[in-house]
This record gives sequence, structure tokens and C-alpha cells, in this order.
Amino acid sequence: EDAVARAVAAFRRGDPVLVHDAADREGETDIIYPAGAVTPSAVAHLRNDAGGLVCAALSDGVADALDLPFLDSSIDHPTAANHDLSYDSRSSFSLPVNHRDTFTGITDADRSLTITELAAVAERVDDGEAYGPDDFARDFRSPGHVNLLRGAAGLLDERRGHTELGLALARAADLPPAVVVCEMLDDETGAARSVADARSYAQRHDLVYVEGRDLVTDL
Ligand code: 5RP
Ligand code: CA
Ligand code: ZN
Ligand code: ZN
Repeated sequence: EDAVARAVAAFRRGDPVLVHDAADREGETDIIYPAGAVTPSAVAHLRNDAGGLVCAALSDGVADALDLPFLDSSIDHPTAANHDLSYDSRSSFSLPVNHRDTFTGITDADRSLTITELAAVAERVDDGEAYGPDDFARDFRSPGHVNLLRGAAGLLDERRGHTELGLALARAADLPPAVVVCEMLDDETGAARSVADARSYAQRHDLVYVEGRDLVTDL
């Protein structure tokens, strides 16, 4: 069985998958969970073993129903371009949020609650239930401690970040369009973990490692 099929199967079981985007993009390996499978210990796993920023990606359809903006125009400059990333044409960042039942929002229990509630919202919206911006504002506050990412409408045809790679995995696994991503950083150097390192971590922990290009081709 190839890595893509094993990744979809792992996701369906609620297990995390390691996804490397591309050497000529960020060159990062993110640990990605289906949002509905996240628990407090999954959040601990992300901050201890990945160490980057914990973000929850929602599909364009869900983000649109909730009126979630892209943040890249929040700091505006008359001459500097907003889209000046060197590795992609734009960022997928939206608002940082907490569920209103959280206390500070940062604890493993709080972030897990925010994330699983986001997954429930994604499922409801995806199922065509009436849930809009007012419902979202009643249930979540911003600022918060879970960074929302908004997937591209055309998914992998339009953008090939971890945002879209994770959402494409969720779709292939028949899960709601909500995933949690976090970059794996090297504790020695502070840089992104090398591919060799991420692969050996996957092997030691019995997790699937998959290349973004293989997801692009096979999903
Ligand atoms: C947020 C990021 C990550 O790289 C994350 O993977 C989402 O971004 P992208 O879709 O651009 O890969 O920067 O921590
Ligand atoms: Ca660590
Ligand atoms: Zn990324
Ligand atoms: Zn990144």
C-alpha cells in the first residue's frame, strides 16, 4: 500500500499524518490531525513534538458561511504589497479564535475544546445546516489561541499549502472539512525539521509520512 492510501486510512481512524509540502515551497513537515479527532493529549503532542504554530484549517465553503476574513490585508501599506511571501502567492491565515467555554484558551483542554467545536461547526455547515456568522460569534471569540486558516476554493488546484493538503486528506477520508496543522521544528537548530528527521520520527512513532506532491497527484 502506498503512502497516500495509508495517509487516508490513518486520517479515517483519527490518527495524525506527517505532510511535507515541497522542497521549493516552505520545506516544512506539519503534523496534521482531523480536527474532530483532537484531544488534549493531541494538543500536547503538537506543542511538544511539532513545536510550531497550532492552526485549524477550514474549507473555503465553511469559512465563507462564517464570514471569516483573510488577515493578510489587516496591516496595510500604501506601497508595500500585502502578498509578499517568497514561497507562495498568499497566506491562508484568518482570525485566531477561542470557543467561549474556554478560560484563557491556551491550555491543552481549552485548545482541544476550541478545535473540536470548530470541527462540529464545519460538519454542520458542510451538511447544509443553517449556521452563520451570528452563530459563530455567539460560540467563539477573537482574539484567541487557535489560528484559523482558510483553504483555497479550488483546493489543490489553486494552492498547495499544508492548509489545502490537510483539507484534501480530510475530503478523501470523508471527514468534515476541518484539520489541525502544526510545523515540526528542530529543537537543536530552531529551523524546520529536515525531511530525513521527519521521516525517522514517523517511523519511530509508527505514523504515516507523505509528500505533498504525492497527495496532489493521487487525491
Ligand atoms: C501556519 C503556517 C503553516 O505553514 C501551515 O502549514 C499553514 O500554512 P500553509 O498552508 O501556507 O502551508 O505557516 O503555522
Ligand atoms: Ca519539543
Ligand atoms: Zn505550511
Ligand atoms: Zn509554516
